[in-house]
Amino acid sequence: MKLPAPLCRKLEKAARTAAKASYSPYSKFRVGAAILTGSGKVYTGANIENASYGLCNCAERTAIFTAAAAGERTVKAVAVYTPTRTATTPCGACRQVINEFGPTALILCVCDQPDRIETTLDRLLPAAFGPKNLRRRRKA
Ligand code: THU
Repeated sequence: MKLPAPLCRKLEKAARTAAKASYSPYSKFRVGAAILTGSGKVYTGANIENASYGLCNCAERTAIFTAAAAGERTVKAVAVYTPTRTATTPCGACRQVINEFGPTALILCVCDQPDRIETTLDRLLPAAFGPKNLRRRRKA
């Protein structure tokens, strides 16, 4: 889905700001995410790490879980900021979580240089497993 350029810039800016709240003492890799939901609201998140490393939560999932907990059920776009020279796309786990609420969501990845990636979730996670696979089907 195409979004107006000012809305894209707003989401990207929100992702950059969100990274400031990152809790990443182990990786020292601050990530910020901002998502646009079906209601038109923007929710943000940062990566939150844990001394038990496997429990680290990515910025994208923090943002989506925050939105879902507020009752949102549709994700139209996700912006991700990483403090790098090249743009970074969401990890595999985050792609799966985005798929739940935004199977065709626009994904905007920005960094500290002009490099950027603009793509869609179905391009990042083709032939995804999702809610449709669990819908009950009548036997023939
Ligand atoms: N991280 C994210 O927040 N999003 C991604 O898509 C990739 C990785 C975080 C997890 C961890 O806190 C740090 O970056 C290093 O992997």
